[in-house]
Amino acid sequence: MEDTPKKTEETTDIQKDYFPIPISLLQIDKIVNFDLYLRTNANKQPLLYRSKSLPISENDIARLKEKSIEILYVHSENKREYKRYLETNLRDILSDKNVPVQKRTEVLYTVTTQAVKEMLDDPRSGELLPRSRNLVENTLDFIFHEPTAFQCMLKVTNFDYYTHTHSVNVGIFSVFLAKEINFSEDELLRFGMASLLHDIGKCRVDPKIVNFPGKLSEEQFEQMKKHPEYGYEILTKEQGLKDELQLDVVLHHHEKLTGNGYPHKLKGDEISIYARVSAIADIFDALTTRRSYKNAFSSFDALKLMKEKMSDELDQQIFKKFILLMSEKKQT
Ligand SMILES: [Fe+2]
Ligand SMILES: [Fe+2]
Repeated sequence: MEDTPKKTEETTDIQKDYFPIPISLLQIDKIVNFDLYLRTNANKQPLLYRSKSLPISENDIARLKEKSIEILYVHSENKREYKRYLETNLRDILSDKNVPVQKRTEVLYTVTTQAVKEMLDDPRSGELLPRSRNLVENTLDFIFHEPTAFQCMLKVTNFDYYTHTHSVNVGIFSVFLAKEINFSEDELLRFGMASLLHDIGKCRVDPKIVNFPGKLSEEQFEQMKKHPEYGYEILTKEQGLKDELQLDVVLHHHEKLTGNGYPHKLKGDEISIYARVSAIADIFDALTTRRSYKNAFSSFDALKLMKEKMSDELDQQIFKKFILLMSEKKQT
């Protein structure tokens, strides 16, 4: 009897200190930058199975499977290394039909949100553009090969608002919508990268304003409105980006057809198709995510509000495609 509370405590510690990974995500003969642990008994501390830097062979996997072991453990301290490992091997993981498509989608979403979080923390990193290119290339490959990718994505999307999850969600909605309106593959890649980075300028706005738990004061909003120009500056001056399509998305995703947007108060035809698509994806995600001070709208209510209250601000033809995309894919 006395043992019971101790066991619960131990089990909780194990859950806190180690996290499980399916062996199906381990790539044969690739360097693993973290120790792998094995749990022989549900209530016992995991034992070291393989020290880091020792690749897993096909034989190792076969032996684990023989023993019906599908899960290994990684110490929580190595979560970042694990996500980096997934990012490095993303192409192989996403094309591995032995891993269920939902699991592969989860990997893609987790890896991308983590990468964007790191990019927002260090926007000067030389990795910014190649890393987002790699993520978007892999995403496009995945969605062109997996007909259920959009449904799977909707299931894993994080509905709590953070700048990095918002960036990834906007990237997802933008790319799927752009695909519906037949952007070329090259446009999809450049546009996808820009969508992922559309709010990069927020890293220069005071975090107290970015994370302010309520409606912004006029003064705070003025500060916030600088983020498209900050983003443009980061990408041109710090990253040497010259791609006009990408810079246009970062600079103009808050413009409105009525001319009431920012930063340039562009009107109607002055706003490119790229900026119009991102505006729709951006508003939809802002409405359907939860913040400490507001609940999330359902997709239906968000679309209804956008239709009723923003019809003259948003491109109606593109918006109709977006409604169709959301309703078709949700039903399948
Ligand atoms: Fe923005
Ligand atoms: Fe945004």
